[in-house]
Amino acid sequence: MDYHTLAVHGGRKDEKNDKIKPVNYPVYLSSTFVQNSLDEFNEFMYSRSKNPTRDNVEQAAAQLEGAKYGLAMSSGMAAVSLVFSLVGPGEKVLVNTSVYGGTWNYISHVFPDRGIEVQTVKDFAKFDFDSIDENVTTVYVETPSNPLMEVTDIRELADRAKAKGLRVIVDNTFMTSYLQRPLDLGADIVLYSATKYYAGHSDIIAGLVILNDDDLYAKLKFNQKTLGATLDPFSSFILARGIKTLPLRMDRHNENALKVAEFFEASDAADRVYYPGLKSDPGYEIQKKQAKGCGGLLSIDLNEKYDLNTFCDSLEYFDLAVSLGGVESLICHPASMTHEEYTDEEQTAIGLGKRLLRIAVGIEDIDDLLGDIRQALEKARK
Ligand SMILES: Cc1ncc(COP(=O)(O)O)c(C=O)c1O
Repeated sequence: MDYHTLAVHGGRKDEKNDKIKPVNYPVYLSSTFVQNSLDEFNEFMYSRSKNPTRDNVEQAAAQLEGAKYGLAMSSGMAAVSLVFSLVGPGEKVLVNTSVYGGTWNYISHVFPDRGIEVQTVKDFAKFDFDSIDENVTTVYVETPSNPLMEVTDIRELADRAKAKGLRVIVDNTFMTSYLQRPLDLGADIVLYSATKYYAGHSDIIAGLVILNDDDLYAKLKFNQKTLGATLDPFSSFILARGIKTLPLRMDRHNENALKVAEFFEASDAADRVYYPGLKSDPGYEIQKKQAKGCGGLLSIDLNEKYDLNTFCDSLEYFDLAVSLGGVESLICHPASMTHEEYTDEEQTAIGLGKRLLRIAVGIEDIDDLLGDIRQALEKARK
């Protein structure tokens, strides 16, 4: 089935009831479910373990990825925590240097508490896997990365990591399964902040973990239920609704973001544009090879001739807010808003400057968006 069709028709298929035939999978707001007898339990027992509305969206998300299993969590960070529950004391994880600030918090604060080591890697293409310590078990990568849009070749990374027996986890939030399919490229687990493009309307906080491996799934399913950060039925419904229009929205985000990136590349307002859809971007060739597009996110270094605050304040359609992946455009300042947990030295080391702005391009009319940027730049010019 084509992705667009699956996005609309995927999910659980229950026995049809003769009297009530909803087009949408309903919200089952019930914490517990009645069992037939002591000898016969039903599929659903207690909603933390399994809830029909959550199961529907878990199946829909897994089907879209062409995968066997999906787990829906109460946030993207709950999805990150769930996959990291596979790592134990004494183990070491390789992570790319520019990752989401919350993930950075996890690896720099929770890992040490749990006796887990971390090694950051600027560029996996140049990384020597023969040099790794014996206790390295896991590779965790965001591609494109947040907020510098650095691209990692997933196939190459997975091949080299697998040769060393490592598990490969990809945060695919910026791409979604519509644009990039890490499991097909050799990754073991893919995860999402489904708060972003999957839900798509900046209304819920949600996470997804998708995989094929039976043993890993059994462990993760147990941990999902036991750690307890599952997605509630109402948010599961909202997420399933968002998924129905995911490919349409992604096409539009792609188109709009490329035009905004081209605009900045041609203007004197940006010293650098970070968007792997531009031929000038170092990640362009790999991105073209492994993904069907570049998504709606880009970053720029705003030139000194323009006042940062005035530019952000003067924008009408780009609200100053963290997050991305909703239908509306947003702008944020990663150094102070999303990556403030990196120290100044760490920000400098990974190349995250104080004049970096991250722009989440929405699905509005592109001429309105470009017109808005133009007028804000005119006001911000010193
Ligand atoms: C790439 C990435 N991964 C994970 C997360 C965490 O997701 P959530 O905010 O849904 O917990 C985010 C949030 O911005 C993100 O951008």
